[in-house]
Amino acid sequence: MTVTLITNIGELTTNVARDGDACGTLRGAAVLIDDGRIAWVGAAGEASDVSSRFARSTTGMRTVDAAGRAVLPGFVDSHTHLVFGGDRADEFEARMAGRSYSAGGIRRTVEATRAAGDEELRNRLAGFIGEMRRQGTTTVEIKTGYGLTVDDEERLARLAAEVTDEVTFLGAHVIPPEYAGDREGYVDLVCGPMLERCAPVAKWVDVFCEDGAFTAAEARRVLEAGLARSLQPRVHGNQLGEGPGVALAVGLGAASVDHCTYLTDADVRLLAGSATVATLLPGVEFSTRQPYPDARRLVDAGVTIALASDCNPGSSFTSSMPLMVALAVREMGLTVAEAVWAATAGGARALRRSDVGALAPGMRADAVLLDAPSRTHLAYRPGVPIVAAVWKDGGRVA
Ligand code: NIG
Ligand code: FE
Repeated sequence: MTVTLITNIGELTTNVARDGDACGTLRGAAVLIDDGRIAWVGAAGEASDVSSRFARSTTGMRTVDAAGRAVLPGFVDSHTHLVFGGDRADEFEARMAGRSYSAGGIRRTVEATRAAGDEELRNRLAGFIGEMRRQGTTTVEIKTGYGLTVDDEERLARLAAEVTDEVTFLGAHVIPPEYAGDREGYVDLVCGPMLERCAPVAKWVDVFCEDGAFTAAEARRVLEAGLARSLQPRVHGNQLGEGPGVALAVGLGAASVDHCTYLTDADVRLLAGSATVATLLPGVEFSTRQPYPDARRLVDAGVTIALASDCNPGSSFTSSMPLMVALAVREMGLTVAEAVWAATAGGARALRRSDVGALAPGMRADAVLLDAPSRTHLAYRPGVPIVAAVWKDGGRVA
């Protein structure tokens, strides 16, 4: 088994809180990776002693000289919709010319996805995973939701499961056209045969609780049916206006409620007193010209937040977590440290994962080396490909 030592790290973000620094920042640091896990984190000056102890029992030691550059945990993108056919560039163009976003566009992607073969969807998905890896994402959640028949939802869940353990069943994305006059019939289908086929492949159940999608009562039915099949709930809520999403999510103990663009003070209080993470998706506001969620208000109230890409062809067609960090800093009132934490440890919390999102002994060795001296460059150099190397489970993936 090969051991990897990353040394001469100018700025190491561990996310192991110390002295009031949630990012647990170390300077002049080194990280030792053994068997896909972090074996040791400490001062670069101690690295050779520590690594020789490990190297003795192994066949080889690979040393990476970070040359004063920054290392951080791999990004945890806890909210994406990556299995789909077609694109909706025309809608984006119309929005930039003044049209507003509506959930109705989802049905266009449903039509294109149903028409696409498995191989086409699989190849596209592989392309997205590759571009994410190159931008430092090492953990990704993927939702169904563009199939909306029993066979198609099962097919999307299966394709997603080929590339991640974090699969979310989102049969309740919108009411598909063939059920336009029969909402109850569609919710019955989602809670019955569709859930039955998707539950064995999925870990999470999600619902789009918003005007134009599902009501609070419908959403509750879907989430409770999922819970009864051992799927843990997460919610799309408060994206297009104030609404019941947050209260529903907190009431059911959901791992996260995502978007959180329009929140009342009562929503913020509920979140602050709960274990539900508020996942902010600023790619949506960028691509729909909506106001950005007020991340400062949430953090100041004591809410745990995550940043995710929401990569999908309608509201946010980007997989870039560095862009999310830059937007959160530039537009949402977060410090760089808060934004980087939310894109790594926050995402891990939103997925209830304790093995990713931090660099500490025993954690998965998922790490990013930047071609820059500090994580600040993620926001300071927006749009520049500054990810120099990426490790997932100890292996180089970019
Ligand atoms: O998270 N809000 C619901 N679903 C997606 C949008 C999907 C689409 O427009 O295709 C979202 O923004
Ligand atoms: Fe989404």
